[in-house]
Amino acid sequence: MNRLTTLVATLLASTLVTAGCGDDGPSITVYNAQHEQLLDELAPKFTEQTGIEVELRNGKDLELSNQLVQEGEASPADVFLTENSPAMSQVEAAGLFAPLPEELVAPIPAQYRPTSGLWTGFVARSTVLVYNADLVEESELPGSILDLADPEWAGRLSFSPTGADFQAVVAAVLELEGEDATRAWLEGIESNGTVYDGNNVVLEAVDSGESEVGIIYHYYWYRDLAEGGDVSDSSRLHFFGDQDPGAFVSVSGAGILASSDHPDEAEQFVEFLVGEAGQQALADSYALEYPLNPAVQLDPPVKPLAELEPPEVNVSDLDAERVVALMTEVGFL
Ligand SMILES: [Fe+2]
Repeated sequence: MNRLTTLVATLLASTLVTAGCGDDGPSITVYNAQHEQLLDELAPKFTEQTGIEVELRNGKDLELSNQLVQEGEASPADVFLTENSPAMSQVEAAGLFAPLPEELVAPIPAQYRPTSGLWTGFVARSTVLVYNADLVEESELPGSILDLADPEWAGRLSFSPTGADFQAVVAAVLELEGEDATRAWLEGIESNGTVYDGNNVVLEAVDSGESEVGIIYHYYWYRDLAEGGDVSDSSRLHFFGDQDPGAFVSVSGAGILASSDHPDEAEQFVEFLVGEAGQQALADSYALEYPLNPAVQLDPPVKPLAELEPPEVNVSDLDAERVVALMTEVGFL
């Protein structure tokens, strides 16, 4: 009798332990369109600090935003992370985000958040022109990204139009210059440029001299430099500055789904991402993207965020659908 009681007690205890570590334990599902490697570095640090497990479902910005819109209330996602903000705006417009508490997002300066308070930026990337230093003199560099549509750049330019990164740059041009000017610019760079699949490939093409200049984000070049300079030794970065559309700083967003079954844990995750510990982990990671919490800075040689002179763009106003329509019309997509 005694042994039976012990056996039952043991079985019961092990069932409870299993339940505690399994489906019923604290856990959140993150739809992640930021670079997979970055979240593979950050998520375990959050779990270590809070005991909350993170299940990452990785995809691209618009792929996951479209999926969220389709799934609606039934989505298993608790948190959505993007590389660029147009995909956040799409999910916001569909009414799927829960408001973020003001004190939670306070560490991020207001310009990197939508006025709606429905999501927040947590990291940023600068548009740059990478150029082959053997082929292009510094004095030849364009003053504006819009100049790349001029005939003098014919056959010298490259970019990756299918990526969310480039599409965010187009969204900024559209917001700043309007539809007609953006269409004309796209037509110009379409006839001047060579299309590659991925910013890494653009960087390689410029460094090897296959192309003279390329439109990318800053971190592709700095990461390569940090890893030994394989495809950054013959190239340099040109920051447009001066509030030019080409100095656009794109924000990666974080938001909590209103349909989340784990809103407290989801809030803790976003709090970690924007707080000092998460931002420092971000700064210390391979990524070399800009932390947005002013308490944390990237080390040199990365050009400081404060020196970039980006144009003023409201993060809520970047419109993925209009960009896709315009780029399709011009023949990029
Ligand atoms: Fe990227």
